[in-house]
Amino acid sequence: MKKWLLALLTLAPVQAYALSGQVSSAKEGPMEGVLVSAHPDGGNITVTVVSDTKGHYAFPAGRLPAGKVALSIRAVGYDLAGPATADAGGTADLSLKPTADLAAQLTNAEWMESLPGEPGQKKFLQNCAGCHLLQKPLFSEHNTAEFSAVQQRMTGYAAASSILTPQLLVADRVANQGEFALEQRRQTIDKQAAYLAGVNFGEAKTWRFPLKTFHRPTGRAAHVVITEYDLKEPTRMPHDVIVTPDGMVWYSSFAEQILGRLDPATGKTTEWTIPTLKPNSPKGSLALRADQDGNLWLGMAYQAGVARFDPKTEKFRMYPLPPELNKDFTQTTEVEPTHSKVDGKVWIEDSGTYSIYRMDIETGKIEVFQPFPIPSPNIYDLATDPENNVYFTVFGRGDIGRIDAKTKAIRTWPTPTKESSPRRGALDEAGRFWFGEFRGNKIGMFDTKTEAFKEWTPPTPWYFPYDVVGDRNGNAWAGSMNADRVERLDSKTGEFVEYLLPRFTNMRRSFVDDRKTPVTFWVGSNHGASIVKVEPMD
Ligand code: HEC
Repeated sequence: MKKWLLALLTLAPVQAYALSGQVSSAKEGPMEGVLVSAHPDGGNITVTVVSDTKGHYAFPAGRLPAGKVALSIRAVGYDLAGPATADAGGTADLSLKPTADLAAQLTNAEWMESLPGEPGQKKFLQNCAGCHLLQKPLFSEHNTAEFSAVQQRMTGYAAASSILTPQLLVADRVANQGEFALEQRRQTIDKQAAYLAGVNFGEAKTWRFPLKTFHRPTGRAAHVVITEYDLKEPTRMPHDVIVTPDGMVWYSSFAEQILGRLDPATGKTTEWTIPTLKPNSPKGSLALRADQDGNLWLGMAYQAGVARFDPKTEKFRMYPLPPELNKDFTQTTEVEPTHSKVDGKVWIEDSGTYSIYRMDIETGKIEVFQPFPIPSPNIYDLATDPENNVYFTVFGRGDIGRIDAKTKAIRTWPTPTKESSPRRGALDEAGRFWFGEFRGNKIGMFDTKTEAFKEWTPPTPWYFPYDVVGDRNGNAWAGSMNADRVERLDSKTGEFVEYLLPRFTNMRRSFVDDRKTPVTFWVGSNHGASIVKVEPMD
């Protein structure tokens, strides 16, 4: 091939941008690290890129359909000076002006950085982020007594709730523990209510502390393409998002009996209704994982059981828990079928009774494991190794545990950080168990071969990793409910790259598609009814 032709061919994809332009403001001139999002007319796919050191942004070719796109930006402290549209294939320079409402733009993590008081005093706010933004309490004018009443009301909601899908619990686990536990909760709530009434917008209608913001992306963090796929209904809560080998993207819905499939090439979604097991209990599912035959398994949470879906026949087989294990507060959030072929068994976790079950897939027969005597710390996630031994996270304390599939022996190892609350995680091929230390605010790794831990702290304060997954390059990826940033950790150098997402994004299950180069990160926007793909460009 002629040299010049080869040069042209290799250059072509880099040079042909679908849309590009310059971002600037009167205050800063050309602006780096501004997220520019293009939303095609009538479509459900939004594509985002980040401006470089010169304030230049560019969408790679082939990412936007022909026609008009609406443009929006994310740069804390700024808004677009006016509405912006462009033609895919063209250019559009964007001018930014200081925002009139900075408080509306702050992430939960920025609020926690801004709020006065000791870290220990405001840390409880991480518990509010499960169902809504911190703007909810902080924009209010409640006094202490009103806040106490509001927070009491919040304790009545199932975790599988949001502003659009409030679901009432049928059993209060704390009430179940007796009057002493209830009184302790009342006292904690009163203390928190007094704190909140001292820092909210309040009757004075002003903030009593300066609002702090985190820096915009720079360097490698600005070298990324982010694609968001809006789902059909605003009530969809894509808690767990996974990609199957055929490239299809599947999602569970946290507060509805829905399993969905997204075709990332077209943005088209197909959904199936999961049979209801307990009509009076909160709806929805949490964990979504595939077995080696391509069946999809769902942890049915308050519905107390698990579901298996065969994508070929499009049929569900439901496995309700047997009556003796099926209580009002039963909450089978996790199911782990990844290596079930070894012995025909799946592992199930019950956050309501702090138990781990092992179920025979054919007979539905269940063995019960209780790693701790009652009152037990809460147990959360499960991950199996190729022999179908199960590792689990002890969320209510700070340990990693293991149940041996053959001997049934249970072992636990405490994390170096005390009370770190390991939340969710995954085993990589090298036998490293990666997990999010939710209260410890660290990324944790337990090497199952050497039984040694390692921990890393994300650069963004108040990050509170929810879930961590390793990729084939030895990097780990984490998401959070607090910071709208996806963390990419190089475990050899300890270097973090933080990808800011275009919108408020309450992230749960982290997923890496390791077959792609570079690897691609997927996550659900649990309160934004969308699925997010993060593609680093380096
Ligand atoms: C399990 C889900 C859940 C959690 C956790 C949660 N909330 Fe809420 N919150 C809701 C729902 C649902 C609504 C809307 C319905 C309502 O107001 O009852 C709401 C609304 C609110 C409102 C606005 C309504 C009002 O009366 O002012 C405030 C304030 C609030 N929450 C404060 C908090 C605080 C503070 C926390 C953490 C201590 C918290 N919430 C944790 C589910 C939750």
